[in-house]
This record gives sequence, C-alpha cells and structure tokens, in this order.
Amino acid sequence: MILNGKRGIIFGALDQQSIAWKVAERAHVEGASFVLTNAPIAIRMGNINELATATGAAIIAADVTKTEDIENLIAQSMQVLGGKLDFVLHSVGMSLNIRKERSYTDLDYEHMHKTMDISAMSFHRVLQTCLRQDAINEWGSVVTLSYIAAQRVFPDYNEMADAKALLESITRSFGYHYGKAKKVRVNSISQSPTRTRAGGGVKGFDGFFDYAEKMSPLGNASADDCAKYCISLFSDYTRMVTMQNLFHDGGFSFTGVSNEVVNGL
Ligand SMILES: NC(=O)c1ccc[n+]([C@@H]2O[C@H](COP(=O)([O-])OP(=O)(O)OC[C@H]3O[C@@H](n4cnc5c(N)ncnc54)[C@H](O)[C@@H]3O)[C@@H](O)[C@H]2O)c1
Repeated sequence: MILNGKRGIIFGALDQQSIAWKVAERAHVEGASFVLTNAPIAIRMGNINELATATGAAIIAADVTKTEDIENLIAQSMQVLGGKLDFVLHSVGMSLNIRKERSYTDLDYEHMHKTMDISAMSFHRVLQTCLRQDAINEWGSVVTLSYIAAQRVFPDYNEMADAKALLESITRSFGYHYGKAKKVRVNSISQSPTRTRAGGGVKGFDGFFDYAEKMSPLGNASADDCAKYCISLFSDYTRMVTMQNLFHDGGFSFTGVSNEVVNGL
C-alpha cells in the first residue's frame, strides 16, 4: 500500500494493453484514489468504463490539445478526489504522419504540428495548468512515457522520435521550475517496446520488439513491469528523483551488442 491516501490523475488508459491501464490497476492495489482521463473519442471507443468500475475511479474526458479541457479536468479532479493531487501519469502519444503512412523524409507539417501537440506539448500544458491551479502537493510526482528513439535513430519511429526528444526536454525544464516553486518532481520513463495500440502502430513493430528482446540482458520490460516502476516514482521512496529520463528497458540502452544478435546475423 505504498500509495495509501494519495490522489492522482491517470491519462491514456484505452484498453487492457495500455500501459496506463496497468498503472491504474496497480495504483488501486497500492491504495491510491484517482481520476481516469482520455480523449472523448477514446472513451467512446475503448473500454475505460470497465477499468473505472474495477478501480472505483471517476472518468473525466479531456483532449490533451485543448487547454480548457485540461483546466476543467484538473479543477474537477481535485473536487472529485477531495483535495490536491500527489501524482499524475501522462501516458499519451499519437503520430498523424505514421497513421497516414508518411515517411520521415516526406512529412506533412500540419500532421507534424498535431503530433507534437498531442505527444509532447500536452505535457507542458498539463504541468503549466497544474502549477497555475496549484493542484499538486509538495513532493508530488509527475511521470510521462518516452522511448529511446529520442536519443538514437530508429528509422521507422519517424516524427515520434522528435516528439519524444521534445517531451524529454520539457521534463527537464519544467522539472526545474516545478521543483523550485513547489518541490514537485517531474520524470520520464523510457520504456521497452510494448505491445499496445500506440506501439503496434509503428511500422515494423515486431522487428523492434524482437531486436530489443535479443539486445536486452533482462529481455523487454512488460507493461506490468512499467506500471510497478511508475508506482515507485509516485511513492515517497523516490522523493529526490527529478528531471530524469529513466530507462526501463531491461538494459537495452547500455548494451552495445549481444551474443543473441551476433548469432542471429
Ligand atoms: N508501446 C510502446 O512500445 C511504447 C514504448 C515506449 C513508450 N511508449 C509511450 O507510452 C505512452 C502510452 O502508450 P501505450 O503504448 O500505452 O499505447 P495506448 O495506445 O494504449 O495509449 C496511448 C493513449 O494516448 C491517448 N491519446 C491520443 N490522443 C489523445 C488526445 N488528443 N487527448 C488525450 N489522449 C489522447 C489514446 O487515447 C491512448 O489512450 C505513449 O506516450 C507511448 O509513446 C510506448
């Protein structure tokens, strides 16, 4: 029960595969109360109601690209939960160009603008709105999810690599300001390839997944493992960790080459 009495908001639970879904289940087990949120269309199309019933959570719709939606979400969440927040999970990502099968050297900039807004700027929007509403308690913790394509080239990860680089930069910059102002922590978790709706949308996902599995001494980290790591970052056991991009990838990020990959050549 390491989150006993803590209140939070969890963005991005779409279906049982979603990383945010696993985080919500685990946060419930650990004693937290929270609001679930997603875009209105995702609430209609996914099965978030099931998760809300199982975890006793309220659902408040919000499109992360709309400032008024985020303002309303944060104000309403504090009302529903009966006080200020202790944690926020931002588990949101979408690439319009990947959806439309545009390659990295043939991007549509309207799509790219939207991708950056949904996948990276929205994190700033959430943090700025929380700060303006003074919505997070001291030593509260905000976590977003990233991928190693922010540091190294994975050609088919496309414009999402740029979105993740921006996301990690916002994590550092806002982490500084929020830490100074309110002692709130801000971190990103750089997760292994994981079979989810967003993950599966990346061209050649199975190749990414199998390669990472062979490269990582511990194998790929699952969504369940990622949820446990998120919970540790929401807990009081990690109070001095902030502004970090934390690799949660079974050792992939620091492995130069593995026997499995060489033997498979
Ligand atoms: N799956 C992977 O391989 C992997 C690896 C590393 C990082 N991540 C990151 O993890 C996060 C969660 O993705 P996931 O893999 O659980 O997939 P997912 O598809 O289950 O989650 C993505 C979520 O973003 C939400 N979303 C999209 N547009 C939105 C909008 N305008 N407003 C509000 N919500 C919106 C979707 O409805 C969905 O719930 C993403 O940031 C993703 O990039 C995923």
